[in-house]
Amino acid sequence: MQTLGDAEITGRSSLEHRVWPHKRYDEMYRRSLEDPERFWAEEARRLDWYETWDRVLQWQPPYASWFVGGKLNACYQCVDRHVKTWRKSKVAIYWEGELGETRVLSYSTLFREVNRFASALQKLGVEKGDRVALYLPMIPELPIFMLACARIGAVHTVIFSGFSAKAIADRLNDTQAKLIITADGAYRRGKILPLKGIADEAADLSPSVDKIIVVRRTGQPVPMTEKRDLELGSLLDEADKFVKPEPMESTHPLYILYTSGTTGKPKGVIHSTGGYLVYNHSAYKWVFNIKEESVYWCTADVGWVTGHSSIVYAPLSHGAAIVLYEGAPDYPAVDRWWDIIEKYGVTIFYTSPTAIRMFMRYGEEWPAKHDLSTLELLGSVGEPINPEAWQWFYKYIGGERCPIVDTWWQTETGGIMISPSPGIEPIPLKPGSATFPLPGIDAAVVSAEGEELPLGQKGYLVIRRPWPGMLPGIYGDPERYKESYWSRFPGVYYTGDFAIRDEDGYFWILGRADEVLKVAGHRLGTAELEDAAVSHPAVAEAAAAAKPDPVKGEAIVLFVTLKEGIAPSDTIKKELVAQLRKSIGPVATPEEIYFTRSLPKTRSGKIMRRILKAIAMGQEIGDVTTLEDEASVEEVKKAHEALKEAIEGAGGKAAR
Ligand code: WT7
Repeated sequence: MQTLGDAEITGRSSLEHRVWPHKRYDEMYRRSLEDPERFWAEEARRLDWYETWDRVLQWQPPYASWFVGGKLNACYQCVDRHVKTWRKSKVAIYWEGELGETRVLSYSTLFREVNRFASALQKLGVEKGDRVALYLPMIPELPIFMLACARIGAVHTVIFSGFSAKAIADRLNDTQAKLIITADGAYRRGKILPLKGIADEAADLSPSVDKIIVVRRTGQPVPMTEKRDLELGSLLDEADKFVKPEPMESTHPLYILYTSGTTGKPKGVIHSTGGYLVYNHSAYKWVFNIKEESVYWCTADVGWVTGHSSIVYAPLSHGAAIVLYEGAPDYPAVDRWWDIIEKYGVTIFYTSPTAIRMFMRYGEEWPAKHDLSTLELLGSVGEPINPEAWQWFYKYIGGERCPIVDTWWQTETGGIMISPSPGIEPIPLKPGSATFPLPGIDAAVVSAEGEELPLGQKGYLVIRRPWPGMLPGIYGDPERYKESYWSRFPGVYYTGDFAIRDEDGYFWILGRADEVLKVAGHRLGTAELEDAAVSHPAVAEAAAAAKPDPVKGEAIVLFVTLKEGIAPSDTIKKELVAQLRKSIGPVATPEEIYFTRSLPKTRSGKIMRRILKAIAMGQEIGDVTTLEDEASVEEVKKAHEALKEAIEGAGGKAAR
């Protein structure tokens, strides 16, 4: 029997199913599970600590504390450490603006900027533990502010620049942030998004906010409220040149990032300082094989976890050069990305299946116009990648030369969990499979009862022991933390994904098993969409479902029951679309809306989602059974027929 922290570990290791042995990987994986504390302590020593930990792991399920008693600073790891070496004159950030401008920041420039920004925050009274909201476009000021917060021990919460005022206000109210940092505007496809105006609207709904810092990007005039709104430029004029990094307890939150779950309220996922950094530092070495000369470009928005880990904390902790691109992928022309790869000599390119499918549609003549020969490694994240998109990526972007790392992870996991790890040892790839768990990650596929399934059977993906990157909690909601991740299978982390392992033991991730949609890689809760829809005065009830989309992976289909006496109309449909965009943001735009007189429900009142899905996909129910269903096949068939009739009676489908 093995033990980890205070708990016993049971179950088979995922190595037991392996057909072809991979020497280095197998040895490392085995070692990581045999003596995890020793393994992670070795990894942790790659970072600089002010004080070493007393305990590697304190595990009181479901709460894990990593490197307890240790002290470190995330900004120090990503910046100060490098300016003490020759890397001080190495490029940290190549920034490309949508209009074609370039800003190149060396590590020493980054050091100077981070210190001034940190000083500006301090002079405004921001202290260790305070929450600071960042609502910024993809400009260097965004990572600089993240690092400045980390330097003084403030907890940043980055809000994606595509979110609406209401969505921002929900996050501000939940974190009780006193300060928002925003910009006068953001460039998107040649247009200007009025970020400051949206931030003002959000601030009006958030009593905790008393200051807004405005970064100048577009230069357009914006209303400034006296005493509340401050120009970054003036703050920097007064700022000191150096701020001592705050030695932070390893378990202190580094940031809070909101993500959608199965209720209408997004979850504030917390990440710790020590465990998160150790995990990401190691994972990026294993997966991306980051080298001194790497030029690393992750196309995600910094507003998502991918941006936090894969643009900011992991690559900078390695002293890598990163590319940060501000604008739309296909603006002003559809070869913009390929142009950027050529311009900066990108060696590692990490993007999403949705983007790849979009570029597939534009055609391979666009990448063919560019010299992409610097590329060495490609990565995919956020949703399952279909073998066709994988092949296209491999052939036309990677020139049949670059391995593709299909990386499975989640906002909650902090870093990559299941992925090829060429930095340890290259393994044979299978298009569409995320392959194997990284060292220390005890992944398994289990039945509804929590029994590990034989190879070839679809089940739930779980992680059977804690890992350093794992979320320590949901901000202000310990119950939800237990409920969402640790109660479906007691003592085991529930991912919410379906997966299967093939005859060679490879993991294939099959999509969400819970009420979460993935639209263009963005995570949206059905409950969030439904709450937004029912806030329309004509709507009695609403249910959201997904249908497969050739580019976005999934598209939103909305089923709506109108209040007594209200007839379906094009106007209501348009208003509903506007309502969703306003409450959540443009990613929440429904593809189709069905008006129906009723919604199919189980005896306990749960919406029968697979019926909605079948209708959305124009399929019959047949004898499909899924793991999550509590109704009998007969009942499901009846409800399916009834829904079809109810839709017809109510005026039917209303395509956008
Ligand atoms: C969900 C997490 C973590 C980065 C961005 C997404 C899906 C993520 C893959 C992949 C298949 C994937 C899962 C997961 N997902 N990566 N390589 N293959 N599915 O973070 O918004 O927290 O979403 O994205 O469904 O649970 P997120």
